[in-house]
Amino acid sequence: MGANFVERELERLKETGLYRKLRRVEGDQGPTLVLGGREVINFSSNNYLGLANHPALGEAAKAAIDRYGCGSGASRLISGNMTLHEELESKIAEFKGTEAALVFNSGFQVNTGVVSTLVSEGDAVFSDALNHASIVDGCRLSRAKAAVYAHLDMNHLEGELKRSSSARRKLIVTESLFSMDGDEAPLADIVRLAEKHGAMVMVDEAHATGIYEPDGAGLVAKLGLGEGVFVQMGTLGKALGGFGAYIAGSNALRDLLINRCRSFIFTTSLPPAVMAMGIAAIDLVRKEPQRRKALSDNAERLRAGLRDLGYLLGVSSRQILPLMVGDVNRCMELSQRLLERGVFAHGIRPPTVPPGTSRLRITLMATHTRSQLDKTLRVFKEAKD
Ligand SMILES: Cc1ncc(COP(=O)(O)O)c(C=O)c1O
Repeated sequence: MGANFVERELERLKETGLYRKLRRVEGDQGPTLVLGGREVINFSSNNYLGLANHPALGEAAKAAIDRYGCGSGASRLISGNMTLHEELESKIAEFKGTEAALVFNSGFQVNTGVVSTLVSEGDAVFSDALNHASIVDGCRLSRAKAAVYAHLDMNHLEGELKRSSSARRKLIVTESLFSMDGDEAPLADIVRLAEKHGAMVMVDEAHATGIYEPDGAGLVAKLGLGEGVFVQMGTLGKALGGFGAYIAGSNALRDLLINRCRSFIFTTSLPPAVMAMGIAAIDLVRKEPQRRKALSDNAERLRAGLRDLGYLLGVSSRQILPLMVGDVNRCMELSQRLLERGVFAHGIRPPTVPPGTSRLRITLMATHTRSQLDKTLRVFKEAKD
């Protein structure tokens, strides 16, 4: 039977500790979650600013449904380009300080679609070794020559740029705040190398949007590098609390993607309620800097407490704390011991991270309370092996 491989593959995943199961969250997304009937403190969410259950997003979504209905009915290029898609895009462009923006159904679709639109056979794409799976797949799909440079290593990147000097087009793609490590790309150096070697730059701000001063627009905006970055991408589903994603850049880039980007063209557009949530979220992010401050204070408190307990944390200065364990089974056991004591910190293992670097990815929220963090540190103390 042709499908026998399914059982064999599942068996192999179980034997190597890499089998995964869905967990059901009962109730809403907050600093605590109900999992399996029990309330646990949640350190496994990208709902960094606590907007996923904010009433302003809910009100905006309800008003959009009342006015525009539920579904969009078609792709953007047919009849699914509604008023709110364009309103959200103007809002994003203003937020990011770019000429234009274009909304996509997910960040995964941005990365696969945009990379493969910008480069193809005869071109070269330069990708940080720890970039997200969607960027990796975008590189593969493009059929450009892919040069994967060691994480954050600018000498390696420059060597690869020199080696591909005859490529027709060149694209450097990196996350700004890395999703699994919480460290930052040296964006100013990347932009400088791109200028020197005639490459375009694409920056994935999935985990940076909503986080950086002064107004949450991202690391590119914070560093004033907008001019040197051809594509800024971000998502609406993490700190912005809703769903969907976008690129921000020039009018010409937007136009090219509308005409050429398959993951934009061949899919039903997002419904009006989702657009309305995005608009409400950006307004909140800009109006309420206290959320960023609370998030950063919470991250500092937990980081210092975990270090005092002797845990090994990766280099991270923001809301993502990688607690390095290494071995897959030890990592999942620690996660389980914490969960039994009421703290949910998900274990991250290959293929999401490289072999031998399994970790707990601890993510803070602006809405975690001081007493939740104190309890968490007590639990980490008890769970230490
Ligand atoms: C760095 C990064 N880029 C892109 C994505 C994909 O975004 P989305 O969840 O909107 O598909 C994610 C996570 O999901 C991510 O962590």
